[in-house]
Amino acid sequence: MSERGPAERPVSWQVCARCGKELPASSPRSQCPGCGGLLEVRHRPPSPHGSPAKLREIFAARRGGSGPLDASGVWRYRELVLPDAREEDVVTYPEGNTPLLSRGAVSRWAGVESLLLKHEGMNPTGSFKDRGMTVGMTQARRIGARAVACASTGNTSASLAAYAATAGLPALVFVPAGQVALGKLAQTLAYGAKTLLVRGDFDACFALVREAAEKLNVYLLNSINPFRIEGQKTIVLETLEQLSYEPPDWIALPAGNLGNTSAFGKALREACELGLIAKLPRLACIQAEGANPFARAFREGFTRPHRVKAETVATAIKIGDPASLDRAIAALRLTDGVVTDVSDHEILEAKAVVDASGAGCEPASAASVAGVRKLVAEGVIRPGQRVVAVLTGHILKDPGLLLRYHQETDPPPSRANRPIEIDANLSAVEEVLGASRS
Ligand code: F0G
Repeated sequence: MSERGPAERPVSWQVCARCGKELPASSPRSQCPGCGGLLEVRHRPPSPHGSPAKLREIFAARRGGSGPLDASGVWRYRELVLPDAREEDVVTYPEGNTPLLSRGAVSRWAGVESLLLKHEGMNPTGSFKDRGMTVGMTQARRIGARAVACASTGNTSASLAAYAATAGLPALVFVPAGQVALGKLAQTLAYGAKTLLVRGDFDACFALVREAAEKLNVYLLNSINPFRIEGQKTIVLETLEQLSYEPPDWIALPAGNLGNTSAFGKALREACELGLIAKLPRLACIQAEGANPFARAFREGFTRPHRVKAETVATAIKIGDPASLDRAIAALRLTDGVVTDVSDHEILEAKAVVDASGAGCEPASAASVAGVRKLVAEGVIRPGQRVVAVLTGHILKDPGLLLRYHQETDPPPSRANRPIEIDANLSAVEEVLGASRS
């Protein structure tokens, strides 16, 4: 394939990001057969549509369209996602088209005048994973996969389960026993995936699913799958569109297995190459202090990878050995990005602020807002800069943690909103109102 000229290229193909080996788009492998590096999807440039202005126009015109592809905030950008996908192969809910919110209380708390929240929890299964899953599941169908699988901290499994049900494919998920938030586990079971509660952490689940996928001929849909990345790029594309292609100074996102960081880097690189934007925003990746291998590696100038035994209340990003490290480093270098970490206390406080603003999000998502506040305090982000923080998951993903936080008495967290039990009469209500007025 590498000898071919551009004219003879297929519409899309895969390339190893480490050694450059090329594979056809139809290859079900999740790693380079030569060097084990991660794969990346490439597409022929989106001609005949041509100019950036024309592309922007096409994307915008499709918004709100009624066909299955135009209704999706992923497939609306199909020229940059999977240009030759046929409508009958596409597995869509639809997804995407998520809001970009402005909440004064959150901006004030973070210390940035212009802070916008890209709420990916508003996707159909409540997290950004749906954007990658629609493309991954479509690819599974295109290559005739007989079953799909993933390891997950909960959101990928919920998304995979829903999209596999839509596609009519058997789904197998591996989750760490006792470490998945209630809403996510409930979804995964309800959508009908075969759910394996593995006695081990996420990293153990991931090692197991990789082996199982390879030996048992099941298509792997973790974020090392390059087609997932193509879908997740649309978080950035849609944000840029919502900002009329005036990029923000910073995009902050929580970082776990680093698939999303990789997707953001690829989206920004391509948006720049295509002339959709004239300058690159900087990425700010935020980890939990107890699950911070990427932040540690960043502080050392990425001279060596780190691996930690992960521990954090933000179970979505409780990952000690991120799979997409190389691709994420490339994204950081491209955007002159930064990585930092925040404590569980900071995450919970940020979450309480985001929740009480009416926006609401799950714990891992709040890490991005906590990270913005920390970077402002350190002088890395200036208060006058334009910042987008990505809220990756819905407030109801982790109801167990929410109820514990708001009902904790020993001591009560500063932003807890304790429920008040009363007798069923008006004077009891008056008493409560009186107390809150005084
Ligand atoms: N935020 C949420 C809500 C997540 O569920 C995840 C990852 C991330 C952030 C981090 O994204 O891994 O691409 O760096 N959740 C995966 C899962 C691991 O299995 O649901 P990442």
